[in-house]
Amino acid sequence: MLFENKTLIVTGGASGMGLLTGQCFAKEGGNVVLVDINLEKAEKCAEDICAEGGKAIGLKCDVRNYDEVAAVCKKAFEEFGSIDVMVNMAGGAETRMLGVQGGLEFPDIPIDVYDWGIDVNLKGQFYFDHAVMKYMRDQKSGVIINIGSITGQEGCASNVAYSTSKSGAMNGLTKSLALYGSKYGIRCVCISPGPVLTRPGMAHMKTALGRAAEPGEIVDAILFFASDKSAFTTGVNILIDGGRYIARDRT
Ligand SMILES: NC(=O)c1ccc[n+]([C@@H]2O[C@H](COP(=O)([O-])OP(=O)(O)OC[C@H]3O[C@@H](n4cnc5c(N)ncnc54)[C@H](O)[C@@H]3O)[C@@H](O)[C@H]2O)c1
Repeated sequence: MLFENKTLIVTGGASGMGLLTGQCFAKEGGNVVLVDINLEKAEKCAEDICAEGGKAIGLKCDVRNYDEVAAVCKKAFEEFGSIDVMVNMAGGAETRMLGVQGGLEFPDIPIDVYDWGIDVNLKGQFYFDHAVMKYMRDQKSGVIINIGSITGQEGCASNVAYSTSKSGAMNGLTKSLALYGSKYGIRCVCISPGPVLTRPGMAHMKTALGRAAEPGEIVDAILFFASDKSAFTTGVNILIDGGRYIARDRT
C-alpha cells in the first residue's frame, strides 16, 4: 500500500488520466478527492471508488476560479486531515475543448479561446499549487505533480495557448516550487506525456515506439513520482512520449 493514510487531490478527476490516477491511488490505500468542473461525473466516479472499498469524494471546481480552488482544498483537508499529493490533470487543447472550427489561423481565433487555454492549463495549475502549498508547508511534506505535454516541447500552431502553458511556463512553475518547497520537505515534478489513448484520435500521432501510450503507462509514472519511491526527485520535467521528441525529424 503505497499511499496508506495519504490524501490526493486530482483535478480533471472525472475522466481520462485524472480519474485513473484517483482509482489507482485509492487501490494503494489513499484518500481521493476527485475535482472536476463536471460535478455529477466527479461524484459518480467517487461513488464507484467507494463501492470498490476505496475512500473518495467528488467535488465541483472550475480551476480558473481561485475561490473555488481554495474551498476545495479546505474541504479536502477537513474531510481527510491532510493534503499529501496534488495532481493537476484538468486541461486540454483550447480549440478541441471549446469546439473551435478547424482550419482557422492564429490571429483569426478569438482571444477568449486563448484566455481559456492559458487560464485552465497554466493558471489552474498555479492556483492549485498555491492553495495546497499552505497545507503542505504546515505538514512539512507533500508532492505536487504538474502536467505538461509533448506539445509544450514541440510547439503547436493550432493550439498556441495550450503549447505556451504546457512548456516553459510549466517548467518554471515546477522548478520554482521545488526550490521553495525543498525546505519544507515538499517536492514538485512535472510530467509531460506524449500522445495518450484517452481518445482514439491520439493514435495517429507518431512516436519512435510506433504507438500512443495507454493511460496507465502515464499514470504509473505519476504514482511513482508521487510516492516516496522517488524521494530524491524534484524540480524536473519528465517527458514520457514514446520517443516522439527524439524521433521528430526522422518519422
Ligand atoms: N491525452 C493526451 O494525449 C495528452 C497528452 C499530453 C498531455 N495531456 C494532458 O493530460 C491531462 C489529462 O488529459 P486527458 O486526456 O486524460 O483529459 P480528459 O480530456 O479525459 O479530461 C480532462 C478533464 O478536465 C476537466 N476540466 C476541463 N475544464 C476544467 C475546468 N475549468 N476546471 C476543472 N476541470 C476541468 C474535464 O471536465 C475533464 O474531466 C490534460 O492536462 C492534458 O492536457 C494529455
